[in-house]
Amino acid sequence: MVRITRLTAPQAHDHLEALVDLLRDSVDGGASVGYLPPLDPAAARAYWESILAEVAAGARLLLAAFQDNQLAGSVQLELVQKPNGRHRAEVAKLLVHSRFRRRGMAQALMRAVEDQARAHARTTLVLDTRQGDWAEGLYRKLGWTEAGVIPRFALNGDGGVDPTVFFYKLLEG
Ligand SMILES: CC(C)(COP(=O)(O)OP(=O)(O)OC[C@H]1O[C@@H](n2cnc3c(N)ncnc32)[C@H](O)[C@@H]1OP(=O)(O)O)[C@@H](O)C(=O)NCCC(=O)NCCS
Repeated sequence: MVRITRLTAPQAHDHLEALVDLLRDSVDGGASVGYLPPLDPAAARAYWESILAEVAAGARLLLAAFQDNQLAGSVQLELVQKPNGRHRAEVAKLLVHSRFRRRGMAQALMRAVEDQARAHARTTLVLDTRQGDWAEGLYRKLGWTEAGVIPRFALNGDGGVDPTVFFYKLLEG
């Protein structure tokens, strides 16, 4: 059974090793999510600790997907703190562990993150993803609109530079 839940910082801390494994699984599998492979466990841990500090400060929401009580995926919503961006949020780091893919988990996480955005009065959502990745089609399917492509945006593990597609979604106010 799949359960999607919003984690507080202490709850997320209890799942720190699973979150480290989740990020390393995606990065080492070639995903473009901020890091280059091979991802050192200490760097992954430091990443999550910085994220948990933002969750504790109320600037970021962290949602996790559990399959039979195992952490199988996560997504984040960065709540823009600028005075002119209080209606805006960025969806980041949609990750589903390779053991749990193609079961609709990413779609469920994206629906849940939109619900959280509405609940926090964040109606202008943005995100970006490497052009050509599976996630690009997923976002289009979920009603996101392409804003444009920036070529040579992110380094990849093969020594190249990949283009990134920026998307937005305007929720009902
Ligand atoms: C992209 C990712 C989150 C998808 O997770 P998932 O739980 O497998 O996705 P879902 O099962 O919800 O699939 C949603 C849709 O995405 C598309 N899709 C996802 N993975 C696919 C694949 N391997 N092949 C073809 N289509 C795929 C399909 O349209 C799919 O719908 P369908 O199964 O009805 O055909 C997952 O592959 C992942 O974590 N990748 C590495 C990290 C990453 O790139 N994240 C995106 C950052 S922007």
